[in-house]
Amino acid sequence: MLIKVFENYNALSEEAANEIVSVVKQKPDAVLCLATGDTPTLAYSLLRRRIVAEKIDISGCTFVGLDEWLEIPPQNEGSCSFYLHHHVFHPLNVKPDQIHLFDALSDDPHSECTRMDALIRQKGKIDLMLVGVGMNGHIGFNEPGVPTSLYSHVVNLDPVTQTVGQKYFTNTTRLTRGITLGLRHFFESRKAIMMANGIKKAEVVKLALEGPVSINLPASAVQHHSNAIILLDEEAARSLRK
Ligand code: PGA
Repeated sequence: MLIKVFENYNALSEEAANEIVSVVKQKPDAVLCLATGDTPTLAYSLLRRRIVAEKIDISGCTFVGLDEWLEIPPQNEGSCSFYLHHHVFHPLNVKPDQIHLFDALSDDPHSECTRMDALIRQKGKIDLMLVGVGMNGHIGFNEPGVPTSLYSHVVNLDPVTQTVGQKYFTNTTRLTRGITLGLRHFFESRKAIMMANGIKKAEVVKLALEGPVSINLPASAVQHHSNAIILLDEEAARSLRK
């Protein structure tokens, strides 16, 4: 596990964009799993600039969704689907056949899990999983207490996630269940980038990186990933041992 601390959010985001670019340059048919949320938003806009300026061809890449709020339609601007189309797929001109997301409106979310797991298995492995860290230490919707052996699964969202998640929605929204890639996908990914910025993440980052590895703090799983890079700004790194 390599921890890199940057002066500010901008520098952290530049490095995250660099990491994505370097994976795609090395492997033009890479399978990418890019998180949604506030943390990576600037990285995606910097990524777009790099891709345009350097004429990087991403038409061979596959994009898999990390997670989704169940029962929230993709047109809702708080959905992960909306976010990815707005910040990643549309700006990068990603074609529909490159995109594989969970269907939040499926009658049978468990079959969505089977479909996603089969797709990833067919592609081999996820080459890059870029994730944030939730205030409760979740990765995607791998909530506290989740077994590390799971691939995609349906979850009852943790109360912290239900509350914090409101920030993505214009109106108060009932967020009870989610669907997510599992920690097993995380462990099996060829490279994992975990990002966090801001003072509000300092405590959870300390627990995740310096505390015991525990299912009660899913982000601590990063300590056991064979090829993980942690990108932090100075504020998120503030509670770490010097
Ligand atoms: P955030 O969310 O980037 O909006 O802080 C992170 C997460 O919940 O994984």
